Amino acid sequence: MKRAVYPGSFDPMTLGHLDIINRASKMFDELIVAVLNNNAKSPLFSVDERVKILKMATADLPNVKIDSFSGLLCDYASENNLHVAVRGLRAVTDFEYELQLAQTNRMISNNNLDTIFLATSLEYSYLSSSGVKEIAYFGGDISKTVPDFVADMIREKINSKK
Ligand code: PNS
Repeated sequence: MKRAVYPGSFDPMTLGHLDIINRASKMFDELIVAVLNNNAKSPLFSVDERVKILKMATADLPNVKIDSFSGLLCDYASENNLHVAVRGLRAVTDFEYELQLAQTNRMISNNNLDTIFLATSLEYSYLSSSGVKEIAYFGGDISKTVPDFVADMIREKINSKK
């Protein structure tokens, strides 16, 4: 059985992430989307909320599982017998960071974790979670960046924090 992990912060999941999930789910028998529980960042959504959003958005994809992890991705991968990570590449600007991440993961996993990259669909190549949050914070239109239910949750969350 071909399995892969798609790790990320997903704060929040965007249509760009969903596009990668859809496409990767067709390449693997099982795709695990793993939300990083990163205490160092101050996220808009809790890990539980991010997991819930991803579960709702992928409810129509039976081979996609949503999980969360803390610590190193390579440890999570090894504990779950996963050897392939999927990441999206939006532009050349992502490449340097992603290459470093992929090579570090290969090194610290003793070559047990490889990364494959999917080129982000052109219509989402400008999209980032931080951009979505900034647009929403200043009352801009985020309807083309996230599913409708996520847009509602972002607006609600931002209003409750103001
Ligand atoms: O959505 P993001 O924030 O670009 O995802 C980054 C992520 C979660 C894939 C990356 O930060 C990660 O894997 N963090 C876990 C810690 C880790 O394994 N670090 C070692 C490689 S430097």
